[in-house]
Amino acid sequence: MECFEVTGGTALTGRVRVTGAKNSALKLMAAALLAQGQTVIDEVPDILDVAIMSEVLRRLGCDVEYERAGDGGGGGRVRIDVPEKPSTETDYDLVRKMRASINVLGPLVARCGSARVALPGGDAIGSRGLDMHISGLERLGATIVSEHGFLVATAPRLSGTAIWLDFPSVGATENLVTAAVLARGTTVIDNAAREPEIVDLCAMLVAMGASIDGAGTSTITVEGVESLSPVTYTTVPDRIVAGTWAIGAVMTRGDVVVERAVAAHLTVALDKLTDAGATVEVLPEGLRVAMADRPRCIDVVTLPFPGFPTDLQPMAVALAAVSTGTALITENVYDGRFMFVNELVRLGADIRIDGHHAVVRGRERLSSAPVVATDIRAGAGLVLAGLVSDGVTEVQDAYHVDRGYPDFVEQLRGLGVTVERTERPG
Ligand code: EPU
Repeated sequence: MECFEVTGGTALTGRVRVTGAKNSALKLMAAALLAQGQTVIDEVPDILDVAIMSEVLRRLGCDVEYERAGDGGGGGRVRIDVPEKPSTETDYDLVRKMRASINVLGPLVARCGSARVALPGGDAIGSRGLDMHISGLERLGATIVSEHGFLVATAPRLSGTAIWLDFPSVGATENLVTAAVLARGTTVIDNAAREPEIVDLCAMLVAMGASIDGAGTSTITVEGVESLSPVTYTTVPDRIVAGTWAIGAVMTRGDVVVERAVAAHLTVALDKLTDAGATVEVLPEGLRVAMADRPRCIDVVTLPFPGFPTDLQPMAVALAAVSTGTALITENVYDGRFMFVNELVRLGADIRIDGHHAVVRGRERLSSAPVVATDIRAGAGLVLAGLVSDGVTEVQDAYHVDRGYPDFVEQLRGLGVTVERTERPG
């Protein structure tokens, strides 16, 4: 079992470079399936999930190569060679490791007329439905059955239609857009997700020859085309990694320049940090976040973009745990995303959960203890909490964090932190 051993007491100081967003790069890679030939994607983070998506694509018959860039940002270039006729089955062993494997469903049904993709289960942040992916594809004309743990979709040719999503689901919007681009006629997706990663995916699809209007708004209109061509494309910067460093700077009373961070992708989160007393400056190269005193408590409500991102909720809870006063944190996206709170309580945090609310009473400092990372973001939140704890905090199951944060240990060290990656019998 791999662990991070984080020594508390250091303020994050210096510069850190953010590469492309995990939650965009994985979808751009899946979208490459829509065009025969070589697609090249830059600023792809060197993380476990990218390795898993590469394996998903290889098993579908693609050639995939990853090459690290030498700029210290933890990213690189991926080249994906897509055959004329990809295979159409994705196994449970890969889907189980990474839910984003489901993003091959839309492109495969659209381009190959069928797909057999294993059903992912829930995970440590709660139940994660697929009903909107399925009903949307059915409206586009696909027949979908669930058998032996697989979703089996068939459609000789999809037809454009009007789709209303009950919730602006990121994954459903992506699967439906990547299916609609090759459908016959016009598809209108209402109550679509508006995340910057959706805008990024649509921009790559347009560069491939798709016709898409309204990306970044709640109504996306897709005019189907006959075929798409491979492109070279650069992934949007990772707003969640950027936000993690920003919150870390505030918690530790540090001073950090986050290179390539896009302020417009973090508006609500940065406003909250300003309310907490931080200095937030937009620079030509990114963002500077600095904090002199103990942060003031801030209430947070997670919502789909442009609301406060659920993926920064664990960091918001960790921040509240060392702020002055009492904060109310409300989680609206996942039913199980407070599960990690028990670990934070082991570090001495004063937190009470009531349904989808957490009441956090701030303490001056936390107290180190062994804790377990239960998912990517909980792991990053616990590491930040370790930075404001007395002593050395061991965060177990480090692999969760590796799924989303390239070169995490190196980047922490670059900001002045004493941190080791250790291995011990699990
Ligand atoms: N939902 C349904 N039915 C559906 C689809 C979604 O009930 O058909 C529910 C889910 O159960 C969940 C909520 O809607 O409660 C949000 O799900 P959404 O589809 O928006 O999320 P996702 O596409 O599964 C992506 C990110 C998550 C991020 C969410 C929300 C990827 C690979 N994952 O998930 O990222 O939290 O959007 O922004 O893009 C992470 O990076 O740590 C992470 C969990």
